[in-house]
Amino acid sequence: MISLMSQVATAIDDWSSKTTGILFPVSSYHRTIHYSMVAAAGLTALATYLVQRKVPAPYGKLRRRQLGVDSKQEKAWGPKIIPTTLGHTISDGPTGTFLFLYIFLKGAHYNYAANWTLAGLFMLHFFQRGFIHPFIMKYGDTHIRLGVWLGACGPNILFHVAIADWVANAVYPRNHLQKPLVMVGLVLYAVGFVVNRAADWQQAQWKKQLRQREDYAYPKGWLFNMVANPNYFGEFVEWTGYLLVSQAPICLMWSLFTAATWFTRAGFNLEFYRKKFSDNYPRHRRALVPFVY
Ligand SMILES: NC(=O)c1ccc[n+]([C@@H]2O[C@H](COP(=O)([O-])OP(=O)(O)OC[C@H]3O[C@@H](n4cnc5c(N)ncnc54)[C@H](OP(=O)(O)O)[C@@H]3O)[C@@H](O)[C@H]2O)c1
Repeated sequence: MISLMSQVATAIDDWSSKTTGILFPVSSYHRTIHYSMVAAAGLTALATYLVQRKVPAPYGKLRRRQLGVDSKQEKAWGPKIIPTTLGHTISDGPTGTFLFLYIFLKGAHYNYAANWTLAGLFMLHFFQRGFIHPFIMKYGDTHIRLGVWLGACGPNILFHVAIADWVANAVYPRNHLQKPLVMVGLVLYAVGFVVNRAADWQQAQWKKQLRQREDYAYPKGWLFNMVANPNYFGEFVEWTGYLLVSQAPICLMWSLFTAATWFTRAGFNLEFYRKKFSDNYPRHRRALVPFVY
C-alpha cells in the first residue's frame, strides 16, 4: 500500500514538474506524505461541497430556520459553546501564521524570492483573518456551534501545513516572479484582498448602525449592487491569484476547497436576501460572481 502511494506521489510530482517547471525535491518518504495530504485535501474539498450544498454550516445568516436549516439540523452541529471572536482567532490565526512560519523556516528553499513571496502573502492573509478581522467584525451571535468551529479548524490545519510544506521546499525557476502569468496572479491576489477587506469592512459598518445585532442591513453600493457576497468574491479572486503564483497541486486543492464554501454559501445568502427584502432586492443581483453566478 505504501509503495503504491509512493508510486502515485512520484507520478503526480513528475507530471506537475513537467507541466510547470517547478521542482519539489524532497525524499520519497516526504513526497508520499505531501501528496497524501494533497489527496486528503481534495477529498475535503469534495466533502465540503457535497455537505454545504444541502446543509450550509449554521452560522451568520444561515443559522436560521428559514433557509432549510431547521433547528434539528442546526443542533446536529453540536452545542453552541465556542465564543465567536475567540473561535475565529484560534481556527485561523496561529496555524496560518506561527505554524506556517515554523514549517517554512525548516524547509530547504525558504531563502528564495518566490518562496518568500508565497509565504508572505499566505501569512498576510491569515494574520489579518485571525488577529484583525475577528476584532473588527460585530457578529450577530456571541457563540458558534462546536461542529462549525471544528469544521474550520480541521481543514485549516491540513491545508496550512501542506501549503507551508510546499512553499518551504519547492524550487521555482529564478525568473518565476517575472513570468506574465505569475504577475497576473500577483495582481489578482492584491485586487481580491482589497475587495475582500473592503466588503467585510462595509458589512461591519452596517452592523454597527443596526439597532439589533441579530438584524441585517439592506446591502447597497459598489459590488453589493451586483452580488450578494462581495467579500467571498474577493477571497475567491485572491486565492485564484495565489494559485497562479504558486502553481502547486496543494494550492489547486485549496482553491477548490474555498470555492466549495463560497459557491454553496453565496447561493443560500442570496436566497436569504431575496426573502428578507423581497421585491426591493433586485432580481439581477447574483450570488458571487458579477453577471455569472
Ligand atoms: N477561507 C475560508 O474557507 C473562509 C470560510 C468562511 C469565511 N471566510 C472569510 O471570512 C469572512 C467572513 O465570512 P462570513 O462567512 O462570516 O461572512 P458574512 O456572512 O458575510 O458575515 C460577515 C460579517 O458581516 C455581518 N454581515 C453580513 N451581512 C450583513 C448585512 N447585510 N448587514 C449587517 N451585517 C452583515 C455578519 O453578521 P452576522 O454575524 O450577524 O451574520 C458578520 O459579522 C469573509 O471575508 C470570508 O471570505 C473564509
